Amino acid sequence: MVGMWDDGRLCYGGDYNPEQWPAATWREDVALMRRARVNLVTVGVFAWSRLEPAPGRYDLGWLDEVLDLLHDGGIRVALATPTASPPPWFSLAHPDALPVTADGVRLHHGSRDTYCAAAPAYRAAARSIAATLAARYAHHPAVALWHVHNEYGTTCHCPHAEAAFRRWLVEHHGDLDTLNAAWATSFWSQHYTDWAYVSTPRATQYLGNPGQLLDFRRFWSDTLLAAYVEQRDLLTAANPALPVTTNYVLGDWVPVDHARWAAEVDLVAVDHYPSAVDGGAEEQTALAADLARGWARHGRRRATTRRGPAPVDGPATWLLMESAASQIHTTGRSHTKEPGRMARHSLSHVARGSQGAMFFQWRAPAGGAERFHSALVPHTGPDTRVFREAVRLGEHLDRLAEVTAGEVTASVALAFDAASGWALRHPGMPSTLLDGHAELAAAHRALWRAGYGCDVVVPGDPLDRYRLLVLPAVYLADDATAGWVRAHVEAGGHLLVSYLSGVADPYGRVHLGGYPGAYRDLLGLRVEEFHPLAADEQVLLSGGGTGQIWSETVHLCGAEPVYTYVGGVLDGRPAVTRHRTGDGTAWYLSTRPDDRTYRRLLTEVARTAGLAPVCPDAPPGVEAVRRAGEQGSWLFLLNHTDRPQRVPVTGVDLLIDTPADGTVVLPAGGVAVIREEPAPTASVTATPPMTGRPLPA
Ligand code: GAL
Repeated sequence: MVGMWDDGRLCYGGDYNPEQWPAATWREDVALMRRARVNLVTVGVFAWSRLEPAPGRYDLGWLDEVLDLLHDGGIRVALATPTASPPPWFSLAHPDALPVTADGVRLHHGSRDTYCAAAPAYRAAARSIAATLAARYAHHPAVALWHVHNEYGTTCHCPHAEAAFRRWLVEHHGDLDTLNAAWATSFWSQHYTDWAYVSTPRATQYLGNPGQLLDFRRFWSDTLLAAYVEQRDLLTAANPALPVTTNYVLGDWVPVDHARWAAEVDLVAVDHYPSAVDGGAEEQTALAADLARGWARHGRRRATTRRGPAPVDGPATWLLMESAASQIHTTGRSHTKEPGRMARHSLSHVARGSQGAMFFQWRAPAGGAERFHSALVPHTGPDTRVFREAVRLGEHLDRLAEVTAGEVTASVALAFDAASGWALRHPGMPSTLLDGHAELAAAHRALWRAGYGCDVVVPGDPLDRYRLLVLPAVYLADDATAGWVRAHVEAGGHLLVSYLSGVADPYGRVHLGGYPGAYRDLLGLRVEEFHPLAADEQVLLSGGGTGQIWSETVHLCGAEPVYTYVGGVLDGRPAVTRHRTGDGTAWYLSTRPDDRTYRRLLTEVARTAGLAPVCPDAPPGVEAVRRAGEQGSWLFLLNHTDRPQRVPVTGVDLLIDTPADGTVVLPAGGVAVIREEPAPTASVTATPPMTGRPLPA
């Protein structure tokens, strides 16, 4: 890992919308940015109607002035193409480019994302505004990064989308027999005899076709990527030295396969907004950062110098591109982040490899749909807690430049597959509670609480550095994925598989002969029947824990029970099992254990795999993440409790530039980043023998 810029500083700043403010405010903004040590701002994300007020008539003078001001202030610019929000004139001139919902309703302008990315007029207009910006600013000294669009993630069912979907299907399936087989169209008389009969998955009287729904998402992932790539290529042609990115939005509603996209960006950029108010926010933050780091491993090439990219070996870098200064979005209300929480969230990302901390947004707007969204400069102005915390965060980030020499390394690989997450949400699944992201989060949370770091991987990623592979409800598996898991186990790796993993093929067709078809031999079992649970239902497990969401009839074929079901129709039957596989152990969860049980179980699984926590002596509530490399080792300690906490550690506390001689005391809600001296040895212990006994309660 290397830093983004040759001045070594981490990135700090956020979305800046000068188009919403008079010129006098721009000057104050630059002065305040300098006070906060902001060094990168994203400009112009939603400024299309101000950049091109009428078709082909550009008004760029104000942007010239803003970029010059920022440059004079020593602030770099991630210049955005504004294509996530076409102006009203565009929609009126090209009503066919407005998006259509699955029920055939054509949406209107008056918000953002008012386009169909398959509509030729939209794509042409997007290319045109991107080319105009490229021609004018590709060599502007302030511009250090291109930021294409905003949070690609829209779909559409208009005739343009439908035609493009058909073309994509022809390309992917080749002939109708293959498509009919993949979509299992003999079911409910859906057999297609002409490509013209195939449509996007529109609203239907009853359940839609699972294969069609999956392909629709894959099609959109590819179509949106093509829209990004054509802008990227224009921008790169204007100045090959400038890196290009686009900010990812997370969530299973997003029809984007982020891992695949990473190969097309120079920097993986993610936006993250936790939704939990309690400690869940910290856990969600850690997961988002681990996901981003995993995607960055698929990234192409280059770190950037102040004026451009320099080829480097190793994975592409990633950056937290948006986060909220003082707000957690929950259902129905927003929650103000408590003092210190903004810094903890930011540093949790930096600890996990982010090249800095960026925010949406610099200054809170007086009007518009997001008028009450938090900002580094709130409505009340700079004489505020939030701005003071922003200034302090800027100081801290400046002190942490050296950590970019370290990489996060983990011995646990947590698998995630976007399409599996989409498929679990499809109608006709045995439970509406199935949620791939929630399963990923539950496994990640258990590891996080037990103090183990993990890398998020996608099927096919190299696994040689991992002792343990976890598959949390990774529902789809083709032969390649099944072979990938098998090879890990055959190489002596440990495995934990949770329910519904490997049950279906990439089109959602069930692997027959007993679940989970792709892995039952490795796991030494066969699942005969599902028993999904109601939202408020639990099953009791031996050992004192409970299971939620799901339960199953498991037959052992070589595996041994670790926990059994207690009571009900599954009384005495296996709930959690393990199976000796050469040098490793393959564990199976036929239910979602409660958090305490999951954590205890994963601690045992990790211990069996010979792993140790990142910082075994960290007290509960203190998160520990290590970045290490040839030049040293840096331990991030984040105290998420409301009491001071002591952690045994030796080195230098970089944030206060003070030696830590054996112990560091973290203030309540505080953070320390320790340059460890001497650097510790790897967190892997000798593999203990498998005991064969059930886990203690
Ligand atoms: C992001 C988006 C920003 C802003 C923010 C609000 O998803 O990119 O433009 O809307 O959410 O949290």
